[in-house]
Amino acid sequence: MYKRNNGLIKLPNLQLIDKYDRRLNYLRISITDRCNLRCIYCVPDDLHRRLPHKEILRYEEILRLVRIGARLGISKVRITGGEPLIRKGVYDFLGELTKINGLVDVSLTTNGVVLKDNIKKIKSAGIKRINVSMDTLNRQKYKDITGYDMFDQVWEGIESAQSQGFNPIKINVVALEGINDDELIEIARLSFSSPLHIRFIEYMPIGTSRINTGTHLLAPEIQKRIKVLGELIPVEKGINDGPAERYKFKGAQGEIGFIHALSKHFCNECNRLRLTASGKLRACLLSDRQEDLKGPLRRGCLDSELADVFLRAVSHKPFDHNVICNQPVMVAGRMSAIGG
Ligand code: 5AD
Ligand code: SF4
Repeated sequence: MYKRNNGLIKLPNLQLIDKYDRRLNYLRISITDRCNLRCIYCVPDDLHRRLPHKEILRYEEILRLVRIGARLGISKVRITGGEPLIRKGVYDFLGELTKINGLVDVSLTTNGVVLKDNIKKIKSAGIKRINVSMDTLNRQKYKDITGYDMFDQVWEGIESAQSQGFNPIKINVVALEGINDDELIEIARLSFSSPLHIRFIEYMPIGTSRINTGTHLLAPEIQKRIKVLGELIPVEKGINDGPAERYKFKGAQGEIGFIHALSKHFCNECNRLRLTASGKLRACLLSDRQEDLKGPLRRGCLDSELADVFLRAVSHKPFDHNVICNQPVMVAGRMSAIGG
């Protein structure tokens, strides 16, 4: 299919296109399964199941895989975790990553705990867009959800990112019935006074989180509740946009987004692949099928052989997922290792 040249591949027009004609150009990379928070919807009870150090891809390995991915048409990369900013050497890694030819958009998802002290390094590394997880505006509730009293620190991080010119800054809010449902309006109101993009995410039953509720708070219900603030005007999607549906309140500086992971499958427009912290390539967050890249990588495989693994993962990308609202269907694997 393509020629080898000292391990480098020549890929005339070879792209990651699956059998349903979806072009996969977006790679999400979990660089660590470790985190300095313990969110109730993410970290499972068995905290001891952390990946051993040697199981986690080294930075050079990730960079090599991204270079191969970029030659296959990956143009957008997001770094996630766990909490990516607590991995040693991450700022140099980000600097190398943003230099890779073919990438037009490199972004970062963080819980914001160490954001304030490192925002300049993130900026110097060439990152322009960040997402910060923040599910509540209440300090005590923040502690209840994440296990740590870090609310103020995270807000200071968000403010310093604003003052450093990051734009947009997206705030990820996992909507949790009985936990933050009483705050959705207040959180949405933030988009009036600041350019923040608030993104309400439906809780997904990934792995064995500590949430046992069978009732999910779904996007249509969130939309209904926050409409007391005004009409939600749809915002047209950009070409690099993910699956979030975008809206704006009239007169607001920021935006409101909804990630309908369950209530409305966006699989038909899914352009994502995920590289897990342990070097597995997953074509669908909600399907357990994955291809191993770390093994071949460490056995000294050529770039062309690693490219084959990308192509194989793409060929198995399911058309749709099977997680149904209000039925706690569990997906094996942990969000922190797979990458949210
Ligand atoms: N369901 C929905 N979102 C989740 N996240 C982590 N676990 C879950 C889950 N089970 C989100 C976090 C973070 C992003 C990386 O993924 O809120 O913003
Ligand atoms: Fe850490 Fe993010 Fe999981 Fe919370 S959701 S425990 S911040 S990885």
